[in-house]
Amino acid sequence: MFEVDLRSDTVTRPSQAMLNAMISSPVGDDVWGDDPTVLKLEAMVAERFGTEKALFCVSGTQANQIALMSHLSPGDEVICHPYAHIYNYEGGGIAANAHSSVVFTGDDRGIMYPEGVLSCIKADDVHYPKSRVLALENTSNKGGGTCYEWEEIEALRAVANAQGLTFHLDGARLYNALVAKNQNESDYGTAFDSISICLSKGLGAPVGSVLLGSEEFIYHSRRIRKRIGGGWRQAGLLAGAAIYALENNVDRLAEDHAAAKDMAEFLGQQSWVKNVVAPETNILIFGLNEDMDQEAFIAALAEKGIGISQMGPGKCRMVFHLDITPAGIQKVKEALASI
Ligand SMILES: Cc1ncc(COP(=O)(O)O)c(C=O)c1O
Repeated sequence: MFEVDLRSDTVTRPSQAMLNAMISSPVGDDVWGDDPTVLKLEAMVAERFGTEKALFCVSGTQANQIALMSHLSPGDEVICHPYAHIYNYEGGGIAANAHSSVVFTGDDRGIMYPEGVLSCIKADDVHYPKSRVLALENTSNKGGGTCYEWEEIEALRAVANAQGLTFHLDGARLYNALVAKNQNESDYGTAFDSISICLSKGLGAPVGSVLLGSEEFIYHSRRIRKRIGGGWRQAGLLAGAAIYALENNVDRLAEDHAAAKDMAEFLGQQSWVKNVVAPETNILIFGLNEDMDQEAFIAALAEKGIGISQMGPGKCRMVFHLDITPAGIQKVKEALASI
């Protein structure tokens, strides 16, 4: 355990107020469809985004994979960014669960553009996989917490419409984007066919993601969730934490974004830092000079009680969240200054 844990925003622990909300949540049996707190959460998120239905899932991975299994048939293809979590960090799920292939496009910030997507579309020919799903990630984790402009999403939606693609959003950190760009939940609900949102990252719940979409899509997704063992019983305890997170922890995400910017400026002044990706939200990615060993650098910080992570060579990562205090930030700066 680290004194200052910047490895991810998944490491947050439930506050006392969140725990109180959990233990006072009425529960039922969600597989029977009668857990009142799960029903309340699903109705609340669906209403915020203006979608017909929502489904409470164990994790972002589970919500994404259920969506992909629901949208894809064997031999189909997903168009996504080479950094996409659904491709890189979900255990080969597109292949293993949805029996589909992947084609990539996008820039070094994790953002995709219409021309690139169009160049990925396969002709309707027996030799090729069938282009089926266009999957975005907002914010882009490996891109450094980058966000789409609303106009960019609209342009991609137009391509999806014109090409008959299903439009999925991995919105694990969508609330960070909404706060950073002052965007609207209901616009997202209208633009996408399915959206997964994590409550267990910057929003601070211990577990849980919500999958959003049409009544038919969620009906099908509920069956898939059960098939893969994701039917949970007194899940209302966790839905209670998720509701608390949505009601209390959204606006404060701006504080995490400010902390990431402040640390980026600090890192930019260090001679051993090669580059810093200007943070748009709570994820800060930076690279070290060639004479520095990334693994050794991370290990040296760990020795001092500071956890950071990496997303491949040249990509050290710090993620800011609600358990990071000003004193913790000061400790990190002191440790970095002594490198
Ligand atoms: C962009 C993105 N999508 C999906 C996930 C998966 O979420 P989980 O860890 O809840 O499976 C993550 C986790 O970090 C993520 O960063």
